[in-house]
Amino acid sequence: MTDTQKSATLTLDGESYELPIFSPTAGPDVVDIRKLYAQAGVFTYDPGFTSTASCDSTITYIDGDKGELLHRGYPIDQLAGKSHYLEVCYLLLYGELPTAAQLEDFEVRVTRHTMVHEQMHNFFRGFRRDAHPMATLVGVVGAMSAFYHDSLDVTDPWQREVAAVRLIAKLPTIAAMAYKYSIGQPFVYPRNDLDYAANFLHMCFSVPAEEYHVNPILSRAMDRILTLHADHEQNASTSTVRLASSSGANPFACIAAGIACLWGPAHGGANQACLEMLKEIGTVDRIPEYIERAKDKNDPFRLMGFGHRVYKNTDPRAKVLKQSADEVLELLGVENNPLLQVAKELEQTALNDPYFIEKKLFPNVDFYSGIILEAMGFPTSMFTPIFALSRTVGWISQWKEMIADPQNKIGRPRQLYLGETMRDYTDIEQR
Ligand code: SDX
Repeated sequence: MTDTQKSATLTLDGESYELPIFSPTAGPDVVDIRKLYAQAGVFTYDPGFTSTASCDSTITYIDGDKGELLHRGYPIDQLAGKSHYLEVCYLLLYGELPTAAQLEDFEVRVTRHTMVHEQMHNFFRGFRRDAHPMATLVGVVGAMSAFYHDSLDVTDPWQREVAAVRLIAKLPTIAAMAYKYSIGQPFVYPRNDLDYAANFLHMCFSVPAEEYHVNPILSRAMDRILTLHADHEQNASTSTVRLASSSGANPFACIAAGIACLWGPAHGGANQACLEMLKEIGTVDRIPEYIERAKDKNDPFRLMGFGHRVYKNTDPRAKVLKQSADEVLELLGVENNPLLQVAKELEQTALNDPYFIEKKLFPNVDFYSGIILEAMGFPTSMFTPIFALSRTVGWISQWKEMIADPQNKIGRPRQLYLGETMRDYTDIEQR
């Protein structure tokens, strides 16, 4: 953290406290309250962290008003159009776009870690076939702690590097295994002659009984979806990984915690919930009914895939995914997919509705992704696992940044206590 000449003054019970202000390279200034409790004996109060910077970071920048998303300074639409997922992984992990030699070395390292320990196959047998793949993912990724003992020591930079590559490499394999297990088909081993996205499609959709050729359209679309979900500043699951890691827990356990948090329908589970909502709406003529329900405070229904804590203009990822949905469905000959028509009409209706305009609600990353994934042949239950395998590089990059930060200490928030003050125990006869 750089020194600063700026400060804010807090006056409390006649006392004044100077709070340093730090300026970022982009985004709002921050008021440093680290010494506030020691100096003034008060906490700040911010449930949901709507106004709190939990760390400093150089990885991803989001401007919610402009609808801007930068990874190490590069705009997401340029990365989605010109780069590919493993190159974006390198950028997020190491801070710069790789040279050709660096990229080749990184791709070889990831490719050579895509298999999982053969004994891990047994973990799947303990799950019901109808277990949600996210449940399987949480369990098996956490269990990696029980296998990879040579990459558990977070204080060793080399072990951190190995753990990072193992997680990026093995998440697609484990996610594909969770899918195969849920449909009663045999696991498919990764293939080193396929690129990352093609390998994932192959592990999900090939069967031993016949040759499977990855459709390059689907592979490119898959890679773009992975790129768009790779990292997103201090969202709920990334903050979960950072908080879990702050205790020194091993990376596999911390990533499992991030997967668990991502599962929620308010976060990464929204892509599944959004497609289920589009199917429930079914036809364009039923949209007004659901728009009214979304506005009704007495109705818990919300438009899934709409709204965002940070974006108050547009989610740049949704724009790219909308274009991709058009392209993929047309190339697959399903451009008349009724769900896509309902989604587009729903988007237009909501964007012109005063409630959504006033609340600044726009389609987010989850609004169009499910339409593409379903057209690719995935069941809705696989949407969030795909989000999780993509976001693993973001979680791991933020984890590495935090562990290497000299300021790193265990996260331990306080509270506004509204419970009973001290009172004496009463025997049961007196109650
Ligand atoms: C992701 O943080 C990230 O970066 C996440 C993510 C990432 O890449 O990591 O971008 C991925 O999680 C995207 C979001 C996916 N979730 C959904 O699509 C679920 C539907 N959206 C909402 O649940 C909601 O919009 C959130 C959770 C996304 C954001 O919630 P906030 O910031 O806490 O906003 P809020 O709930 O306080 O809503 C503000 C107002 C409320 O009305 P009032 O109380 O002011 O009257 O807007 C309303 C809400 O009722 N509102 C909605 C709505 N979202 C918010 N009303 C109808 N439909 C919606 N979808």
